[in-house]
Amino acid sequence: MSSEIDLQALTARLDTLAAIGAIEHGGVCRLALSDADKLGRDQLVQWMHELGLTVEIDRIGNIFGTRPGSDADAAPVMTGSHIDTVATGGRYDGSYGVMAGLEVLRLLNLHGVQTKRAITVAAFTNEEGVRYMPDMTGSLVHAGGLPLEEALATVGTDGSVLGDELQRIGYAGALPVGRIVPHAYIELHIEQGPVLETEGIQIGAVQDLQGISWQRIEITGQSNHAGTTPMRMRRDAGYCAAAIAVFVRDLAKRFGGGQVATVGSIELHPNLINVIASRARLTVDLRNAREPMLRRAEGELAQYIARLVHEESVRIESTPLARFEPVRFDPRLVRLIEVIAAEQRLTYMHMSSGAGHDAQMMARICPSAMIFVPSHQGLSHNPHEHTEPADLARGAGVLLEVLRRLADE
Ligand code: GLV
Ligand code: MN
Ligand code: MN
Repeated sequence: MSSEIDLQALTARLDTLAAIGAIEHGGVCRLALSDADKLGRDQLVQWMHELGLTVEIDRIGNIFGTRPGSDADAAPVMTGSHIDTVATGGRYDGSYGVMAGLEVLRLLNLHGVQTKRAITVAAFTNEEGVRYMPDMTGSLVHAGGLPLEEALATVGTDGSVLGDELQRIGYAGALPVGRIVPHAYIELHIEQGPVLETEGIQIGAVQDLQGISWQRIEITGQSNHAGTTPMRMRRDAGYCAAAIAVFVRDLAKRFGGGQVATVGSIELHPNLINVIASRARLTVDLRNAREPMLRRAEGELAQYIARLVHEESVRIESTPLARFEPVRFDPRLVRLIEVIAAEQRLTYMHMSSGAGHDAQMMARICPSAMIFVPSHQGLSHNPHEHTEPADLARGAGVLLEVLRRLADE
């Protein structure tokens, strides 16, 4: 049955979803709890109903579509991902895992396969974390890592409140959070990096996921005339923001070993050519697969900030936005993915995930693992994100067989 993934059915759903919030170059902007997200959710729920799934929405807006098993008391096997995107996202990040889950259930229906355990396809709220932080909010709340009320009170980058937006789009569901504790969670996702394509490998069996540290840094200096203020008398928030960006970049190079560091957002005030910036607001994203190194990176950045405060006569405030330790996925599930990839005569390799995923939250409450397929040129969080259709089908084929076996345990 694994070879029967209907690529057309899968890509048709991906195309339909990608048209909701479409931006130029084939990209998608479906920010969490926006109008486009609501339309994407409506479409997903409609598909779930068409497949005869039981649809439940919990209080943080996670959507669960369940196909029953023969043993109503057995914990379900869960798959899924997210359908929200970054503002300049591609069409596969998250959506692929959810659409492939639907395709698997469509095939099980078509062939009248009765599994022992139910299979649930989940779409978690606000995985991306660009509008509301932290990222992976829905799965984090589901796994008990963030109290519901705190998550609902989150203020977004646009000043909106997460709980209000959830109500507004009609997805503040009734199901208490964390109600579904799966037997296992398997997430299929595009790699979003260059490893599989470079190595010429078809399937990644993801064994671990690196730690993530996000913070917002706000710098207060003094605006003054760009022509008349001597360099030694400046309290230049713009300079300090740039210095931090350079510092973390150098830190990542110095640490090596997979340390990455990104300043993805800088805003200056008043942002004028001939005015020294009085305020700067920037974000820092630090990631490392080794927790002690990630802590060291955070420590060195804090020390550097203290030095800037002293030397540049500015005030600097850092606010943590997200902090997740590295996660190791369940070795038995990783092995199962490899066994099935081998049975399907696919090439496969063990790998780490550089991106954050809902699976890292689900790993707190049940055995979890991920399946990766290649990303063309390693591009993601970019409208040009692309995965070859044959790779989409291969990943879904592995997902189908993994879910089927786990659902009969
Ligand atoms: C989520 O997509 C992240 O890794 O930033
Ligand atoms: Mn994703
Ligand atoms: Mn993403």
